[in-house]
Amino acid sequence: MHRVAISSTGIFVPSEVITNQELVASYNRYAELQNQVHADAIAAGQQVALTPSNVEFIEKASGIKQRYVLEKEGVLDPERMRPRFTPRPDSQISLMAEIAVAAAQDALQRAGKTAADVDGVICAAANMQRAYPAMAVEIQSALGIEGFGFDMNVACSSATFGIEMAVNSVKTGCARAVLVVDPEITSAHLAWKDRDCHFIFGDVCTAILVERLDIAPANAFEVLGTKLQTSFSNNIRNNFGFMSRAEDRDPDDRDLLFVQEGRKVFKEVCPMAAEHMAEHLGALGLTPADVRRFWLHQANLSMNQLISRKLLGRDATAEEAPVILDEFANTASAGSIISFHRNHADFEPGQVGMICSFGAGYSIGSVVVRRQGVAA
Ligand SMILES: CC(C)(COP(=O)(O)OP(=O)(O)OC[C@H]1O[C@@H](n2cnc3c(N)ncnc32)[C@H](O)[C@@H]1OP(=O)(O)O)[C@@H](O)C(=O)NCCC(=O)NCCS
Repeated sequence: MHRVAISSTGIFVPSEVITNQELVASYNRYAELQNQVHADAIAAGQQVALTPSNVEFIEKASGIKQRYVLEKEGVLDPERMRPRFTPRPDSQISLMAEIAVAAAQDALQRAGKTAADVDGVICAAANMQRAYPAMAVEIQSALGIEGFGFDMNVACSSATFGIEMAVNSVKTGCARAVLVVDPEITSAHLAWKDRDCHFIFGDVCTAILVERLDIAPANAFEVLGTKLQTSFSNNIRNNFGFMSRAEDRDPDDRDLLFVQEGRKVFKEVCPMAAEHMAEHLGALGLTPADVRRFWLHQANLSMNQLISRKLLGRDATAEEAPVILDEFANTASAGSIISFHRNHADFEPGQVGMICSFGAGYSIGSVVVRRQGVAA
């Protein structure tokens, strides 16, 4: 068995930003237009009028201040309320593969590696652009990687579950290195017309290069262990799928987009995640106090504060549990990886950190890492 490391991470950030102010102005205009169209039904008590969204609620309830999106104009158009993507011919790289290639190239470059050093690609995300061929195979081809590629989806835990699959491939000698990419085009499955959740998501792509420790860069992060857990719940769900056509469904049907029971998710997932992390550290002979930093899934600020408090018995500092969701919003599986990507350069050799994701399924995945290299 080989020892395994995270050699580097990479990121693709869309160039378009939607602030909470812009988002709320667009939603409120949409609500106004809807209320005008349905004025008679509302007056007759047959329909409930839509109530306005507001920036203060969003920031207080979630901690989110803005989000990046691949296409902003369609989302903010009150007559549309979804991004506008132009279909591409099959001869052109698909959008999801394009952003994954950009993040993967960033990760390779940061590790000083090339496609020739990699034997596999795992595309792990909350939604795939198409059924087949697998997105990972297109990404593998665009990068010029020989070997294999496959897709996997465990919603917001896709990246950590993908890391475990990559770690196992490298540990057993099936691959020298595997790239895990997490292209999250959440704007295409978010219900922008629903005030309860229209502020939640943003688009991004992250990439993680998982490699044999003996050939990884000197300052890589050795993977000390991974732990995955799932427990079925309907509280975060999206029913869109290949059966929708045969069911004569309208693609705009509410349950064919992201739906959640936010309060229940909050109540149920926080204790599960804290317990999972404590158990994982315990199994490695570690305690939360041995961990310099927790790179947590980025869904909601209060959720992360509660999980850290349960784990540490006190509030975590911003240094111990960094927040990126104010800038990125919830980016599904990419959130904990962005947190790691942005906040690991100051680690000293020997220091330990923990990545943990949680979300639909329910699914929880954690990865414990230790910085390599010689102390200064
Ligand atoms: C989603 C979440 C931020 C909502 O916060 P919340 O405090 O639970 O809010 P609620 O949905 O209970 O709504 C509280 C009130 O705010 C109102 N409200 C909801 N959205 C609003 C908006 N955009 N603007 C203004 N008011 C809003 C509701 O109507 C409700 O009003 P009421 O008390 O008069 O009925 C929160 O439940 C959460 O963080 N859940 C964790 C799950 C998560 O983030 N999952 C992401 C996928 S992993």
